[in-house]
Amino acid sequence: MKPHTITTLFSLLGLAVAHDPQVAKRQSAPPAAGTVVAGVTVPPLASITFGMPTASTPAATATATPGASPPFAGAPQLPSPAWAFTPGGWPEMDKPIDSTTEQVLEWMKELEGYDIPDIDPTVDGTCVNDTAAAADAANRGWWTCGGYTRDTDIVACPDKLTWGVSYDDGPAPYSNNLLSYLQQKQISATFFVVGSRVIEYPGILINEYMAGHEIGVHTWSHPHLTTLTNAQIVAELGWTRKAIQAVLGVTPTIMRPPYGDIDDRVRMISLAMGMVPVIWTRTDTGYSFDTFDWMVAGGSVAGVDSFAEFESILGNATTLPTGFCVLEHDLYEITVDLAIGYTLNAALTHNPPFTLEAIGKCSKIPTTNLYVETNTNKTFPFPSPPPSMASNSSSSPSSASSAAGSTTNGSGKVAQQGNSGIGSSGAPRSLVLGLPFGAAALALGSLLVL
Ligand SMILES: *[C@@H]1O[C@H](CO)[C@@H](O)[C@H](O)[C@H]1NC(C)=O
Ligand SMILES: *[C@@H]1O[C@H](CO)[C@@H](O)[C@H](O)[C@H]1NC(C)=O
Ligand SMILES: *[C@@H]1O[C@H](CO)[C@@H](O)[C@H](O)[C@H]1NC(C)=O
Ligand SMILES: *[C@@H]1O[C@H](CO)[C@@H](O)[C@H](O)[C@H]1NC(C)=O
Ligand SMILES: *[C@@H]1O[C@H](CO)[C@@H](O)[C@H](O)[C@H]1NC(C)=O
Ligand SMILES: [Zn+2]
Repeated sequence: MKPHTITTLFSLLGLAVAHDPQVAKRQSAPPAAGTVVAGVTVPPLASITFGMPTASTPAATATATPGASPPFAGAPQLPSPAWAFTPGGWPEMDKPIDSTTEQVLEWMKELEGYDIPDIDPTVDGTCVNDTAAAADAANRGWWTCGGYTRDTDIVACPDKLTWGVSYDDGPAPYSNNLLSYLQQKQISATFFVVGSRVIEYPGILINEYMAGHEIGVHTWSHPHLTTLTNAQIVAELGWTRKAIQAVLGVTPTIMRPPYGDIDDRVRMISLAMGMVPVIWTRTDTGYSFDTFDWMVAGGSVAGVDSFAEFESILGNATTLPTGFCVLEHDLYEITVDLAIGYTLNAALTHNPPFTLEAIGKCSKIPTTNLYVETNTNKTFPFPSPPPSMASNSSSSPSSASSAAGSTTNGSGKVAQQGNSGIGSSGAPRSLVLGLPFGAAALALGSLLVL
């Protein structure tokens, strides 16, 4: 297939063909200082740091017209007229949501019939400030403290040397630069978007979706979900889902918890609302595939260190029996510059070569399954009856079969057995800072995003 044919196909159908080894081999060397990549001037790595001069902000408008057809079979047309913000119609941006409204009560009904574990909210989603919860992390399936996962989580692409590419916390103006790069390199990605950003930059969300990328939920105000009540979790997921649906006409079936802060209560609420949790890879030695690009944007890590971390991640990724997911962000110019100037290129030119594609795609989930409106799959987000979080075995019927008819929050704490198979051993470390992860988060305080 000729390059232009692939490109045309890509733009028409939103197909990602980066898994074609021929495509991977054509990638260029890393950009020199100030090189233009996909129409964007990327600064030298050493100057990518907090306070760097900024390029002009890309326009935030949608390139697709209202009513246009999205690039996958059966997708509803984009809303026409395009969604427009109505004051009073939405929660305040980036603020905790009132969870006592009629709307949230309506969404709470989705939890009926699910055995939501009766786990107390954590103090602040950190291990250091909630030692009781941290000691109980294996029981709770708390990812933050020990990396506990369940079979229902997506944490890696199944195929070795495959990177499930994702970007969190947008949409935002610089996401457009990332989109230009992804299109030029024919890579698909998954965008876990914040509801507050969706209503602020609906046009950019449309650009992501119409370019064939996957869209998932990343909450409204970016809280540590384990700190919230059931109703507050429902509000965060529900309003974000609603914002995405309003702008795109489709409702995601995947979500990513901010900071990876998920436990069995958050998991079950998410699944009950029809969203499969997607985290990022943590090895069985506790090495979390986090580039710390968010810390560069916050000023506590240099761009060169974040990139060095990414190269370590790629090195470690080659040793895994499966593929992997990495935490990266598209909210800030800095994080987008790191991605399009450095990390994506490093992965594309890596030896052995990596396949880069969106997480749903690498997980072989048909795009139609990623949205409620087009999903016809009876076993996705999960097979019926609802899953239990009590076991790491997805076929375990134990408390799931007794779940029907139980009240939403709690018929007692679910007995937990086993673990995720993803490491529970050892303190995960921030390798950039050489600090225990909790301490790194502590150093950052409430600074930023993750
Ligand atoms: C669970 O329900 C009880 C009463 O039904 C309520 O007091 C408590 O706040 C709920 N827990 C959460 C985490 O929502
Ligand atoms: C894995 O990551 C560690 C920590 O950053 C690094 O020291 C090591 O070199 C990496 N392994 C490979 C094979 O790259
Ligand atoms: C339904 O989803 C499951 C889980 O992702 C997948 O294994 C199966 O192939 C899907 N079936 C169809 C028909 O898409
Ligand atoms: C589930 O946990 C048990 C006990 O910890 C372990 O032996 C088993 O390998 C795990 N299964 C999976 C699929 O992770
Ligand atoms: C722990 O709590 C203290 C006091 O409330 C707070 O200053 C600190 O930021 C918290 N630690 C983390 C890691 O959030
Ligand atoms: Zn985030």
